[in-house]
Amino acid sequence: MPDLSALLLDWYDRHHRVMPWRVSPGDRAEGARPDPYRVWLSEVMLQQTTVAAVRAYFRRFTELWPTVADLAAAEDAAVMAEWAGLGYYARARNLLKCARAVVADHGGQFPSTEDALRALPGIGPYTAAAVASIAFDLPATVVDGNVERVISRLRRIETPLPAAKPLIGAEAARLTPAQRPGDYAQAIMDLGATICTPRNPACALCPWAGACAGHAAGDAATFPRKAAKAAKPLRQGLIWIATRPDGAVLVETRPDRGLLGGMPGFPTSGWDGSDLPPPMQAPWQEAGRARHTFTHFHLEMTVLTATTDAAPSRGAWMPAFTPDSLPTVFRKAWDSATIRAVE
Ligand code: ADE
Repeated sequence: MPDLSALLLDWYDRHHRVMPWRVSPGDRAEGARPDPYRVWLSEVMLQQTTVAAVRAYFRRFTELWPTVADLAAAEDAAVMAEWAGLGYYARARNLLKCARAVVADHGGQFPSTEDALRALPGIGPYTAAAVASIAFDLPATVVDGNVERVISRLRRIETPLPAAKPLIGAEAARLTPAQRPGDYAQAIMDLGATICTPRNPACALCPWAGACAGHAAGDAATFPRKAAKAAKPLRQGLIWIATRPDGAVLVETRPDRGLLGGMPGFPTSGWDGSDLPPPMQAPWQEAGRARHTFTHFHLEMTVLTATTDAAPSRGAWMPAFTPDSLPTVFRKAWDSATIRAVE
């Protein structure tokens, strides 16, 4: 029986997904390598976000900023605005820090070892391994949620996550081949995303089915085991949308630290632990309600609107306002406000 990595690579040669930041296995065999900048950017975007959602953002970022030096030179606010809608905004702030460190400390070239990559701001074990393997073809082991699922089923690991992480990491490292490690890293993630899916895995199509302990026992889909999660609390908050008689809308940049840090948004009350007053005295009216779920809590928003030209205590009037550059929570608030002064 061929070893597991050979089976997986053979499957990947036939079934790899095509993505704008990838080099196909055929081109790679001829010596082509992907641009480390594009690999890094895609991997940061793909954390907690689906491939389908990332494609358009990736295209836009690489059009605006084709190299890491271009990104490093960008205005913070321009990058944050382009990131709007992808969520987890600390990723965008770290993205800029990392691009600037690559330019300042590495002459605009990503370093080519896992350790040097790890030393860059915002690059953790996952991203360092992904860039080292995919961009530089080093035998680094990537472990994301897909890989955890594949390995825990393959070996029927009964220890629940997150306690099982070291065990899964060790097993994933043991399976990582010296041959074609870049293709292998992408192959095991593709396997998790397309065959070894969370529900109803397509074991009949899986190149590892013959070796899979979960498949043999008939309970592959029940792995990985997971420790019970704490329920998310429900918080309430107010969002104030002020419109000036000329149509300008009041928007503030949120403080760098904390939830949605550095992002533009409408002024809010204290749904993230602080307690803030409205941005001005005005005839505020309840105009809508909306819900949004963050990593650690659900938020129920009451959206208040007013038309006023009172001077705001925070934020700035935006003359040609569109909600496109705002995080999703504010777009929901905007959409829920049924009464809008300028329509
Ligand atoms: N998910 C995150 N990174 C990926 C990659 N490089 N290939 C497939 N799925 C992924």
